[in-house]
Amino acid sequence: MSITKESELIGMKKISEVVGTTLRLMTEFAKVGMSTKELDEYGGEILKSYGAKSAPYETYKFPGYTCISVNEVAAHGIPSEKTVLKEGDLVNIDVSAELNGFWSDNGGSFVLGKDIHNHQPLVEASKEILQKAINSIKGGVKIADIGYLIETEARKSGFTVIKNLAGHGVGRGLHEAPSDILNYRVKSNKERFKKNTTVAIETFISTKSNYAVERRDGWTLIGNKGGFIAQHEHTILVTADSPVILTAGNGIW
Ligand code: CO
Ligand code: CO
Repeated sequence: MSITKESELIGMKKISEVVGTTLRLMTEFAKVGMSTKELDEYGGEILKSYGAKSAPYETYKFPGYTCISVNEVAAHGIPSEKTVLKEGDLVNIDVSAELNGFWSDNGGSFVLGKDIHNHQPLVEASKEILQKAINSIKGGVKIADIGYLIETEARKSGFTVIKNLAGHGVGRGLHEAPSDILNYRVKSNKERFKKNTTVAIETFISTKSNYAVERRDGWTLIGNKGGFIAQHEHTILVTADSPVILTAGNGIW
């Protein structure tokens, strides 16, 4: 959304703080032996305590308050009593919500407990790439150039990017224009970031895959070539200079 008055910025800051705090508390709460359903319900209670509503539920009738994607699941993992967290799991939690008509989105992947499967390099690469991408965004920068940066940095670290998942505008809804802040360069895309707009920037970095494909449940996304995928996401305010990271409270870096 385009921020035109102070009250809109206050609204975006408030909901961003709520989703950031929820993500941080859920990440801290995640334990070996806990089901993703239990973890999701904990997150749902936090959102409720602020009067915020789950965005994926409100927007898409997603069967959960948050998306919790474990190991080979890339995104949109459905919280389930059957999915029990284990030592060394690669876990992604994505929290997005609405409060007073404002929407914000953030997410992060982490290794649960000891890194016995060596997922940490993927997690670190995703975090660092998100940081570099965000630091390079200001009004007038081409969206395609940020895609190029993400793609190039991923390749340098020995990873691939997922081409059909993307960051997006956010603010008056969960997904707004620009709808395709991709992790690679689309040369024909001449669109630029605009000053005083709020956007969600997210990485989708993989060990093997290039595309996310849907499982038969109609939600769960996995990589087309298998392997693992890490995602980190912040909602930011684009300015003429460094962006304001509205979801900084999530503590992903
Ligand atoms: Co998200
Ligand atoms: Co998003």
